[in-house]
Amino acid sequence: MKRNQPKIKIISSGKYVPETIVTNEDMEKLVETSHEWIVTRTGIHRRRKASQETTSDMAYMAAVEAINRVNYDKSKIDLLIMATITGDQMTPSTANFIQAKLGLDHEVMSFDINAACTGFVYGLEIASALLATNRFRAALVIGGEILSKIVDYTDRNTCVLFGDGAGAMIIEPSDDPKDTAYFFNAARGDTNGSLTVKRFIEMDGKKVYQFAVGAMEEAIHKVLDESGLSIDDIDMVIPHQANERIIQSVAKSTGIPMSKFMLNLSEYGNTSAASIPLTISEYFDSHEVKGKKILLVGFGGGFTWGSAILQL
Ligand code: ACO
Repeated sequence: MKRNQPKIKIISSGKYVPETIVTNEDMEKLVETSHEWIVTRTGIHRRRKASQETTSDMAYMAAVEAINRVNYDKSKIDLLIMATITGDQMTPSTANFIQAKLGLDHEVMSFDINAACTGFVYGLEIASALLATNRFRAALVIGGEILSKIVDYTDRNTCVLFGDGAGAMIIEPSDDPKDTAYFFNAARGDTNGSLTVKRFIEMDGKKVYQFAVGAMEEAIHKVLDESGLSIDDIDMVIPHQANERIIQSVAKSTGIPMSKFMLNLSEYGNTSAASIPLTISEYFDSHEVKGKKILLVGFGGGFTWGSAILQL
């Protein structure tokens, strides 16, 4: 049986990346690796690294870009969800810091969530469900990470993969049936610890790779089934930007042409919860988005995985 899916209006999107660029040649100076190895195994050429910024600073900047893109009245925002695994501190939540930086001093429900790299898609579903209660006027959903805080720069298996950044989206409730959003989100406890962060990211790359391909394929099929749409109805697939080869495998197994996947991982590497909203924002920058349908698909530690279809 089809589930009740919420109706939401996508208002705007924004991003922020720190200025400092770390190239593969810079990585060669830290660990035994090569530009050639990194590019052929992952597709990553460079990534960004925060210097002065905190996670909430970057999220704030992404939110400001989303607000300014459409000259949005920020006093309408009364729900703020921040997806991150690298928040500023344990408490107050990073969302509370963002709220203060944005000067949202009216009543706002704001909190953080952790679903690793799938965090933004989880956050969107939570926000959409809350908006459907008609108790909130607008939600700001953000994914932001300073993964450089939890990367071990002596471990070549992980340090070349990750980068810092943030992406934000503003959404409102809608009555229009064409604004129905479709979601599929899931998780299972990975008791083998294939991807964990105690102090630093530790990862069994091969296990994560295999999981990722299957999970993304399933998430794409599930959300298409739920919506009754076919891939031909989708204008762009925006995947979690972990590894170009993972995305190529998913393209092959689902029969979706690579040209339908929006990629920017060569520039930013894997920015975890930030990767999908950051890419959405670049889609807004580079395309006429009105009327387009996008399919988001992500996977991450946990394991978590999920997908969404949004009408822009
Ligand atoms: N430079 C050079 N050699 C390296 C590097 C490096 N940076 N990293 C690993 N190697 C070596 C290993 O030591 C190993 O050498 P050995 O065979 O002598 O032991 C060899 O390369 C590993 O080869 P493979 O395992 O075949 O490498 P693979 O093609 O699987 O690529 C990679 C490794 C890129 C990590 C891949 O498995 C991958 O992308 N996995 C998924 C990772 C991921 O997406 N993680 C994040 C998901 S969740 C989140 O975003 C938080």
